[in-house]
Formats: sequence, C-alpha cells, structure tokens
Amino acid sequence: MSKRTPLIAGNWKMNKTATEGVELVKALAAAVGIESSVNVVLCPPFTALSAVGAAIEGTHLGLGAQNMHDKTSGAFTGEISASMLRDLHVTHVIIGHSERRSIFGEDDAFANRKVLASLASSLKPILCVGELLSEREANQTMEVVRRQIELGLAGVPAAKAESLIIAYEPVWAIGTGKTATPAMAQEVHAFIRKLLAQQFGPETAARILILYGGSMKPDNADALLAEHDIDGGLIGGASLEAKSFVDLVRSAVKSVTR
Ligand code: PGA
Repeated sequence: MSKRTPLIAGNWKMNKTATEGVELVKALAAAVGIESSVNVVLCPPFTALSAVGAAIEGTHLGLGAQNMHDKTSGAFTGEISASMLRDLHVTHVIIGHSERRSIFGEDDAFANRKVLASLASSLKPILCVGELLSEREANQTMEVVRRQIELGLAGVPAAKAESLIIAYEPVWAIGTGKTATPAMAQEVHAFIRKLLAQQFGPETAARILILYGGSMKPDNADALLAEHDIDGGLIGGASLEAKSFVDLVRSAVKSVTR
C-alpha cells in the first residue's frame, strides 16, 4: 500500500453557477465533509470560487481553481493571478489541462511558467499531461508524456517538488466514456514517477501524487485506485453530481484501508 494520501479532485469545467455549486457542496459536505483519510478538492469556475469557499468552511473539503496566469498583475484582460486565487483561500490549481492546450492553444512553455508561478505563491499545481488518440496509436505515448513532464516542470526547485501534483489524462479518455485500463494507466504512471525521480530523486518522486483522469467513474475507480502509482483522480463529468462524486471519494477511502 502506498504511503501517499489519495486526492480526489473535481474539475467542474464550465459548469455550475455559484448558486448551483453551493447546492452541490452542501450535499458533498453532508456525505464526506469530515472524511480525513483522503483529500478532496473542488475546482469550480472562477465565478463560484468565493461562494464554494464559504460553503466548505469547517469541512475537510479543499478549494482549487481550473487555471491561472503566470504574471502577478497587469494588462491581461480576462486572466486571473495566483495572488487573486490565494486571496480566496484556493490551495490547488489545474494547469495545462488538455482543453486549455487544444482549444486555447496553450503550450508546454506556458504551462511551465504557470507551474513556477503557482509554486512561488504556495499553490499546489495539478499539471495535466496525456497523449492524443493518434499519438497512442502511433506508439508515442511515452514520448509525449516525457516532453510534457520535462518541459512543464523545467526549473522547478527541488525544495518545492513535493507540492507538485501530476494528472495523467489520456486525451482520448476525457469525457468520452473510454477509460485507460488500470494496467495501461499504471504503466504511464510508473513512467511519470521514473521521470520525477530523474529530476528530483527517488525519495521526492515517491511522495509526489500522480492522479488519473479520463472518464473515471464509480464503476472503474476501485480497479484504477488499486494500482500502485495511481494516487487518486481528476474527475470531470462524475464530479458534477453528488452521488457519483461521493462514490468516488468512498472508493479512494477504500483504497487506503485495503
Ligand atoms: P472526465 O474529465 O472525467 O469527464 O473524463 C476529466 C478531466 O477532463 O479532468
């Protein structure tokens, strides 16, 4: 059994008003709000951060954002800085999600600047990596993941490396209902941990969380979370309803006590 405390993070994407978000949080708090054997982080849209932050007060649930800009302030219309997130008691931030990369043209260098800026502000970055279907079919999965990890984490100080969280999200599995098999995911997770060990040393690498994302649901979570290097999930669709998200948190609890 791994000594890493699992993390279940809900990526709400562009879903839920602040009012709807608070409704969901009330149900989550009632069911798993005091669960302490795993960590749970909710990543609502920016507009719901404040309300969700207030609704989770007094619970064990944490607050994350879905993106940030690397600059501290200035003429960047539509963007949000790390200090703005910190001011709302945000602790985690998703960086380099495949939708940011494919729809908004964000590259590894931009993800890297955001990772460095988030760490400098004591936010925990959840750096997303993962291959396209065409890349998997061309046997390029490891090459793509290596590039995203090496470029995305360039210049990360060793002293801050334990705050990193990596999410392996095969792009072909996101929102499609197709999941990587536990063995397929484990293979990439182990490879990522090897890359982390090369950069930060094996002891630090053994403490960094590597989440799986891509159609993780209550019916496949137990098998995925049983794998040695899968330390939790970054959950999209199944995080939007209390029942499925609570079931996923319970799967993670079971994986700790197994
Ligand atoms: P999904 O999304 O669970 O809906 O596949 C995961 C993600 O994009 O983070």
